[in-house]
Amino acid sequence: MSQEITYKLCLRIFEKTNKFIFDLKDELYNLGIHSYSEGSFDNLESIDNEDCEKKRDEFLEADYLCDEILVHSYDKATLVEYKKVLEEKFPFQIKGEISEIKTTDWRDKWKDSFKPIETESYIVCPPWEQKIVEGKKTIIIEPAMAFGTGQHETTQICLELLEKCLKEKENVPKLSVMDLGTGSGILTIAACKSGVTEIEALDIDEDSVKACGVNALLNGIHFNAYKSDLSSYLEKGKNKIYDVILANILLPVLLKSLSDMARVTKSGSELILSGLILSQKEEMLEACELFGFVLIEERVKADWLGLRVVKK
Ligand SMILES: C[S@@+](CC[C@H](N)C(=O)[O-])C[C@H]1O[C@@H](n2cnc3c(N)ncnc32)[C@H](O)[C@@H]1O
Repeated sequence: MSQEITYKLCLRIFEKTNKFIFDLKDELYNLGIHSYSEGSFDNLESIDNEDCEKKRDEFLEADYLCDEILVHSYDKATLVEYKKVLEEKFPFQIKGEISEIKTTDWRDKWKDSFKPIETESYIVCPPWEQKIVEGKKTIIIEPAMAFGTGQHETTQICLELLEKCLKEKENVPKLSVMDLGTGSGILTIAACKSGVTEIEALDIDEDSVKACGVNALLNGIHFNAYKSDLSSYLEKGKNKIYDVILANILLPVLLKSLSDMARVTKSGSELILSGLILSQKEEMLEACELFGFVLIEERVKADWLGLRVVKK
């Protein structure tokens, strides 16, 4: 197994108010940091390890979202720059600390939490626990620094909507698909395993593009992943028409990308949109309608929402 080193920037938050945490997240967004994890309070009730009890009680009483934010990268210099900019902007509110993680440690940490997950048509497994289930396609994902291990509801929703969409479009010759915000490449891999041969994956995050390479190899397939957002990609003259665009990103990015998505789709093309919470449904659908897309299916898991819209 490779001993490759990855780096972690831990931003400890001293101003523990939600307002500050939102300001900090805005700043992360402005710096182009879209993938980070939070010292969060999710599922705290289920923690039964004694060592965690104090922290759990503290968190359960707190009225703020998290007390640290973690940003991972293969590139230490990038994290050093982020730390500098963020500490200059918020000198009293945060303190950054960069540390090294060996890939083996990283994997060991994941081993407890990344278990195979099944959707209607796929089973997503880590490399150390590959499973074959009759009637399902196996997707192997190395859980590194890219989003998309299949554990998140939005990814599961996309996988389910994708499989339905592909079944309905199985007679379309040379179906052309774009995976916008590919993360680990999970949706692209699913599409390839369901027979799609023309697919392009985009992500603005360098680590995601690297992860796609690793995951393509693990799954014995090939696809092209580009470090770009949609509008810059299209500016380079890649003006192709897509039958399906997958986009599991946050609402502001979806809204911003809609005009470009409309430009590179035709009547009958579909968008599979997720990364949305239930309360954002109306805003998303109104914007879709402005660009000629209407709702054909929606799916909800926990508070997360996925939409299939088709161009009229
Ligand atoms: C929620 S993850 C989805 C990953 C994967 N597609 C899945 O469904 O699990 C969103 C991804 O979108 C990427 N992203 C954010 N803004 C983007 C943009 N404007 N253009 C392309 N990718 C973007 C992030 O880097 C992240 O990898």
